[in-house]
Parts: sequence; structure tokens; C-alpha cells
Amino acid sequence: MTVGTLVFYSDFDDFGVWKEALLAHLPSLKILHSHDIGDPAEIDYALVWKPPEGFFDRMTKLRLIVNLGAGVDSLVGRGDLPPGVPITRITDPQMARMMAGYVLFAVLRHARDIPLFEQAQRSGQWVYRHPRSPEETCVVVLGLGQLGAKAAYELQRQGFNVVGWSRSPRQIEGVECLSGMETLDDVIGRAEILVVMLPITPETHRIVHRERLQKLPRGAAFINVARGALVDQTALTELLQSGHIGAATLDVFEKEPLPAGDPLWAMPNVLITPHLASVAIPSSSAAQIAKNIRRVSAGEAAENVIDPARGY
Ligand code: NAP
Ligand code: GLV
Repeated sequence: MTVGTLVFYSDFDDFGVWKEALLAHLPSLKILHSHDIGDPAEIDYALVWKPPEGFFDRMTKLRLIVNLGAGVDSLVGRGDLPPGVPITRITDPQMARMMAGYVLFAVLRHARDIPLFEQAQRSGQWVYRHPRSPEETCVVVLGLGQLGAKAAYELQRQGFNVVGWSRSPRQIEGVECLSGMETLDDVIGRAEILVVMLPITPETHRIVHRERLQKLPRGAAFINVARGALVDQTALTELLQSGHIGAATLDVFEKEPLPAGDPLWAMPNVLITPHLASVAIPSSSAAQIAKNIRRVSAGEAAENVIDPARGY
């Protein structure tokens, strides 16, 4: 007997690989690509990354929506969601490890002055800048969720002086954890390297605005691996141009792909990557998706459900 029908939608992820990974855990699951939906009323489960508006229309039997990633901003608050259907996210230690790897790379690159040496090499110059010991550098991580907490932990393991910031109080070994809006300006003011790892919600939209960016110590490095709209991108660009912010590593942007001609493309102190700091990994995530499908099909509550009111 089948546990039901799942529809897959993603412009970035490989349908064949996900199908094989899911079938290994749930051989009786019927899995369709969104192109092949016959009657939407037959769909029980959706495994999706950024489905277009109207995607869920007429999915009257839908029982579970699995976000094919961590950030659920493309799913919450949209008009086509059937009422009461739980939305879950991928919560995979390997996804967190991949993100921590990117953040470590970006922080170490700035802390070890690699952009300076890259530029010097291009002009054939032997430029010496004496390295600082990691504990002399304060790295601030905004957002201590499943990915942010892992990144903060790995950064302190490298010896950095790490300050983490979140909505509610957190405890992470070796990390000074602060919480609440009243501490945010001071926390940013300490950041020689600022790492943005917050979800985008109505509360966090443009939370890193111009005045907050101006609070960064002169020459600070800025890293955004979360969502572009958390930051005032125009202000960021101007502060990078003026040298107030020394350098940036940007994986996410207000508009993606970053439009041709955007001044960020040509800035020597900016490293741009195309929104791939971390991705959902079929081999390690399929088991939790299958487990949730089994639970829902048995009438139990799904795990890792996000709170639509909170937005993450
Ligand atoms: P998460 O588990 O949902 O945790 C979110 C963190 O942000 C929590 O610590 C939360 O505080 C904090 N937060 C939320 N709203 C806040 C507010 N108003 N003020 C202060 N803190 C607030 O998120 P995650 O899994 O770590 O992922 C973070 C984000 O990374 C995702 O939402 C996604 O946008 C982005 N992401 C990007 C990529 C990429 O490839 N670039 C890949 C994966 C994820 P509490 O601890 O108090 O709840
Ligand atoms: C990627 O951006 C994610 O939120 O998983």
C-alpha cells in the first residue's frame, strides 16, 4: 500500500537524486515532478524550494509541506497555502556543517588579510602585513539557529573572540551570547567581522540598516550568508565604497541574480558567490523527510515544523 503522493519542485535541486534518496527510505511513496501533476487534488506531500505563487492551488488533500532548505520565507504568508498544513524545514547537521565551512572560509579569508594578498599578487607586489592571532579579532554572528549556532561554535574553535546574537537567550560553548533588540547596536559596534545568519521575517527585514552598518568599526568585514533583504544593500555598497566597511563576502542579495551592472560586481573588496553557502543534501536529509511523511500518514504531528506567525 502506498503512503501517498509527493510532488517535487525546485529550479536548483536534482529531481532524480531526491527521488532515489526518498525511495530508499519509503519505497511505497509515489513521487512526481511538478511538471507531471495530473490532478492537484491527488497530492499529499510537497517537497519544494521556492514554488511559484499559485503552486498549491487546488491541492485540497495536502498534508505536509517540506521546505527544501532552511529559510522558509518563500512559503510563509503566501495566499495559496491550504489552511493548517504544517510546513517543515530541513534540519540536517550536514547542511549546518556545509554552512559552517563557508562561514569559516569567509571569516578566515578576512582575518588573514587574503584579499589584500590577492590584490598585491595581481600587481606583482610582495606586500607584508603581520598576522593577528585569532583571539584578537571579534567576530559577531547575528542569528544562532541551527546553522548560526554551528558556525559560531566552529569559529570559537578556531580561536576567534565570538559574540553571538539572537532573539531569545542561547548558550554555546566558548561563545558570548547576547539577545534582544536592546543589545544589537552595541553588538554590531564590536564586530571586526560581522556574519549575518538571521532568517528574513517582518521583524528582521532591513534589520542591518544604514545606521547600524555605520556602527561597525572602521575597516570591518561584512559577511551575509542569510538573505539580502536583511541588509540595506545601497548603504552597504556606499560604505564599502567609502572604506568605512573594509571588505565583504556576499552570498545573498536583495535581488537574485545580482543584476548586471550592480556596483558590487566590480568592487575589488567584495567577494560574490551565487547563493550556495549551504544546500539541502539528499543523502543526509531524505531520512528525516521520510520519517515526517510516515508520521503524517499515521496521523501523528510532523517534526521540525516552523512557526508561520514567527516566520521561521
Ligand atoms: P533558524 O534555525 O531558523 O534560527 C534563526 C536564528 O535567528 C535564531 O537564533 C533566532 O533567534 C534568530 N532570530 C530570528 N528572528 C530574530 C529577531 N527578530 N531578532 C533576533 N534574532 C532573531 O535559522 P538557521 O537554520 O540558522 O538559518 C538562518 C538563515 O540562513 C535561514 O533562515 C536562511 O535564510 C539562511 N540560509 C542561507 C543559505 C545560503 O545558502 N545562503 C543556506 C541555508 C540557510 P532564537 O534563537 O531566539 O529563535
Ligand atoms: C537557502 O538559502 C536555505 O534557506 O536553505
